[in-house]
Amino acid sequence: MSVQKPVILTCAQPTGVLTLGNYLGAVKNWATLLDDNTCYFGVVDMHAITVKYTPADLRKNTLSCVAQYIACGLDPERSNIFIQSHIIGHTELAWLLSCITPIGDLQRMTQFKEKAAKLGFKVSEEQTSIANQGARQGSSLNAGLLMYPVLMAADILLYNADSVPVGNDQKQHLELCRDLAQRFNHSYSDTFTIPEPFIPKTGARIMSLQDPQRKMSKSDANQNATLHILDKPDLLRKKIMSSVTDSGNEIVAREDKAGVSNLLQIHTAISGTSTADLEASFIGKGYGDLKKEVADVVIAALEPVQARYNELIQDKSYLESVLKAGATEAQKRAYKTLGKVYRKTGFVERPR
Ligand code: TRP
Repeated sequence: MSVQKPVILTCAQPTGVLTLGNYLGAVKNWATLLDDNTCYFGVVDMHAITVKYTPADLRKNTLSCVAQYIACGLDPERSNIFIQSHIIGHTELAWLLSCITPIGDLQRMTQFKEKAAKLGFKVSEEQTSIANQGARQGSSLNAGLLMYPVLMAADILLYNADSVPVGNDQKQHLELCRDLAQRFNHSYSDTFTIPEPFIPKTGARIMSLQDPQRKMSKSDANQNATLHILDKPDLLRKKIMSSVTDSGNEIVAREDKAGVSNLLQIHTAISGTSTADLEASFIGKGYGDLKKEVADVVIAALEPVQARYNELIQDKSYLESVLKAGATEAQKRAYKTLGKVYRKTGFVERPR
């Protein structure tokens, strides 16, 4: 009898270019999951339209996102890579789940409140109303932003995922997903697997080059803070050479030397050389030497990734074949869940 492997669902929004932090901290390690798990990987383009966007860019970024992940080592032969909008079921399930989701729970979501605040809206303390300052400024708070976590819950439950790799900022959304799954199971009998957050074992935490107290982020306003995996070698070098260190000159990983520690960490994550060995090899050398070597290491590591990306992004028929295979597998699993859910919730079966 074949034992069913656990199902892991990973999703990413098609926004911009992956950072070196995304690559070293997460994507590179996924390859190790493919043996022991059934992996679904979704590019969640429907989430991307909850904020202001340009249609042509969305299309371009979605394909670019697929190519970037494959270039970083996500193997399409061993995982099901799909685009969310290609699969029937995400929005259907989101609608059903929305009917068991208290509005208050959604208004309490930290990310919703932050995004609302950015648009000039303040979600009131009592969670009962949203003061409408933003509308007067010509922007509006769309319902999709509020519904975002419900769609995310649908993504997860549609595949009955056992575990979901999520960062800290998504833990609250996963918690809501678990609540909804439990509520549904309780009301309509056992249907959904309750998903667990997946905390990857290894994975380096790469910090901003300009403010090493903060995580390296895709959307940093400071252009020099973030290394993107598709940056040209010259640009990578320039950013690393101008990274923030400290006033001393010792090359050691230490709490009061966040910038130097970060550079050493990047080196280790790529070269595999231990911190102690690196520290020893830099005795008597200066920050400039460290930066130069880190730049060399980063450029060499990204060279094959960039070469593969450039190949992939020009090979539209290959990308399409990957997405077709991924969508076929994903849709099979999605229909199974959706059929079960429709039956349990009392919908009349569709005539065949
Ligand atoms: N909200 C997630 C993020 O911004 C993306 C996401 C959407 C997701 N659906 C998901 C992540 C389902 C995991 C599972 O990172």
